Amino acid sequence: MAKVCSKLLFLSAICIFIAQAFAQPSFLYHFCLDNGNYTSNSTYKANLNQLLSSVSSNTEIDYGFYNSSYGQNPDKVYAIGLCRGDVKPDVCRSCLNNATNLLPLLCPNQKEAIGWYDYCMLRYTFRDIFGIMEASPVFYMWNNNNVSANVDQFNQDLRTLLDSQRVQAAKGGSLRKFAAGNATAPNFQTLYSLVQCIPDLSEQNCSDCLVGAMGDIPQCCDGKQGGRVVRPSCNLRYEVSLFYDPTAITVPSPPLSNKSLTVIIIVVPTVAFLVLIISICIYLLRVRKPREQPENTSSQWEYDPKRTDSDQSKGSLV
Ligand SMILES: *[C@@H]1O[C@H](CO)[C@@H](O)[C@H](O)[C@H]1NC(C)=O
Ligand SMILES: *[C@@H]1O[C@H](CO)[C@@H](O)[C@H](O)[C@H]1NC(C)=O
Ligand SMILES: *[C@@H]1O[C@H](CO)[C@@H](O)[C@H](O)[C@H]1NC(C)=O
Ligand SMILES: *[C@@H]1O[C@H](CO)[C@@H](O)[C@H](O)[C@H]1NC(C)=O
Ligand SMILES: *[C@@H]1O[C@H](CO)[C@@H](O)[C@H](O)[C@H]1NC(C)=O
Ligand SMILES: *[C@@H]1O[C@H](CO)[C@@H](O)[C@H](O)[C@H]1NC(C)=O
Ligand SMILES: *[C@@H]1O[C@H](CO)[C@@H](O)[C@H](O)[C@H]1NC(C)=O
Repeated sequence: MAKVCSKLLFLSAICIFIAQAFAQPSFLYHFCLDNGNYTSNSTYKANLNQLLSSVSSNTEIDYGFYNSSYGQNPDKVYAIGLCRGDVKPDVCRSCLNNATNLLPLLCPNQKEAIGWYDYCMLRYTFRDIFGIMEASPVFYMWNNNNVSANVDQFNQDLRTLLDSQRVQAAKGGSLRKFAAGNATAPNFQTLYSLVQCIPDLSEQNCSDCLVGAMGDIPQCCDGKQGGRVVRPSCNLRYEVSLFYDPTAITVPSPPLSNKSLTVIIIVVPTVAFLVLIISICIYLLRVRKPREQPENTSSQWEYDPKRTDSDQSKGSLV
């Protein structure tokens, strides 16, 4: 039975390897949601292809937000593309182009999927999601470095900064809900952060979404010099080094320097995946006993583990 388990682990390693072999740069994270499947010869698939090619080839919209739909019910497809507020249009298009190529490869049958890069996110589904605030699925990343001292003061400075950015972003118009800036943190450090909502949200929903995201910081990133909380409808990030383009639109941003310091948080998927493997092993080892498996790894993270089954062996395991 131990052999079976090591085979399982080997196979999962291969899956991870294959997932990383796709030509496009990997997403920071993605989800293939289990809300329905399509087949390769379906109308849904044809509509999806049509819609995605229109998103990545759209050269008119230069404010970094793409919302469109294609087809007729029940095969209608909705897509949202959003670039980070400081990203220039050509980088935005390149990022979305990569996302439109990669996401359907990673989620070959799922009608609903979402993927995030540093510079953009892409989402498509069969549901009308325009103007709707959605808080899950969520993923987290954090900077490995600890706040060296005065953690309480650091947290307070961070909260103050994010709160003012939240208000500012929520007030942005229907084309752009984005704010970025800096504040002084303890030990002569400068704290940089940005927040962003899907711009078709109402002011209240944008603010609510960001309040929720800020509420996750203690869980994901407490005592860390940087962190990200990324939801479908809004996201935030902070670091003690400059990570966005301070001129916001006109000057290309410098290459990000802190990639190696950042750890992708795949806590829930990884835990759920390990639980699955271990459950299978336990099941195999006790195959004669009555079945008794942990079904729900209900977790402190706020998304539904069962929605990510297809995600377990993919992507961003470092
Ligand atoms: C979609 O297909 C997967 C297998 O590829 C299956 O596990 C899942 O239950 C299906 N989902 C729905 C909603 O039919
Ligand atoms: C797609 O192909 C499957 C068999 O591969 C077939 O059963 C199904 O009817 C086809 N669907 C459409 C919409 O052509
Ligand atoms: C898109 O992918 C290509 C390589 O496939 C890469 O050179 C380019 O930087 C990517 N674009 C963005 C914005 O990341
Ligand atoms: C806020 O989001 C909720 C849930 O997504 C949606 O039903 C509602 O219409 C939105 N409210 C406004 C004012 O847009
Ligand atoms: C941060 O602190 C934790 C525990 O307090 C420690 O385990 C970890 O090694 C520290 N990380 C760094 C990069 O110093
Ligand atoms: C798409 O977004 C734009 C800008 O926010 C908005 O004016 C438009 O109503 C949206 N379209 C749909 C179908 O929601
Ligand atoms: C911090 O933001 C202010 C504007 O609010 C800007 O003038 C200043 O240059 C920024 N400082 C740093 C170190 O980026």
